[in-house]
Amino acid sequence: MKKNLNQNLIGLIEYYSLINNNLLLSDTPLKRNVENSTPIFSGTKIQKLEKLKKKISLIKNCELKKNAKNLVFADGNINSKIMIIGEGPGAQEDIAGTPFVGRAGKLLNKMLGAIKLNRDKVYISNVVNYRPPSNRRPTDKEIERYLPYLKSHIEIINPKILLLLGSTALNAIIGNEEVISRARGKWNQMEIGKIKPWIIASFHPAFLMRQPEQKKLAWIDLKMIRDKAKILNI
Ligand code: URA
Repeated sequence: MKKNLNQNLIGLIEYYSLINNNLLLSDTPLKRNVENSTPIFSGTKIQKLEKLKKKISLIKNCELKKNAKNLVFADGNINSKIMIIGEGPGAQEDIAGTPFVGRAGKLLNKMLGAIKLNRDKVYISNVVNYRPPSNRRPTDKEIERYLPYLKSHIEIINPKILLLLGSTALNAIIGNEEVISRARGKWNQMEIGKIKPWIIASFHPAFLMRQPEQKKLAWIDLKMIRDKAKILNI
């Protein structure tokens, strides 16, 4: 009996030394479903985008996905050199499976039209690809979870100009220390994987609908984009 007890103890010690006891004793949840490096895909641009979309569709245990009707991936021209990032799909986008088709999308179309751009001349996606319930802001955890996909998306499209609409897109790409009212209307060049696009932030069209007096600042940002596109031969 005593011998059995000792053998069990030795067995247990051997078992503990074989596994990572930091993990065993930690109460941090295992991030089994979280992709923390930017996924890299092979093939043509269309194939890479298809693979990325498939990968996003396979996300598990996601509150956003569970409550959404459709995956909202992107819209526009995949060969465009201007990419626009919003926050996340709303109710209309969730139904259509296409970003910026609701009221904010209509305003975005008008804003783009003012600098002679339309949906065929830009490429549009969001920080998260499923509609947050009740249109709430995605949580930091959700943003973190979708960020590797967003970065892959940007790398695949390879834009020369990246327009971040609103604080969620700004904070996801540039960092949490920036506020949109101060960061907007400034050019930054930043490495995203293997590419280094020119990045500018501006107000989200949904915010401009609530605060129309800020449209004059958004107009300054739009003109900066128009001028930069000219300089970059876009
Ligand atoms: N707001 C966003 O940020 N994205 C959309 O696709 C629609 C509204």
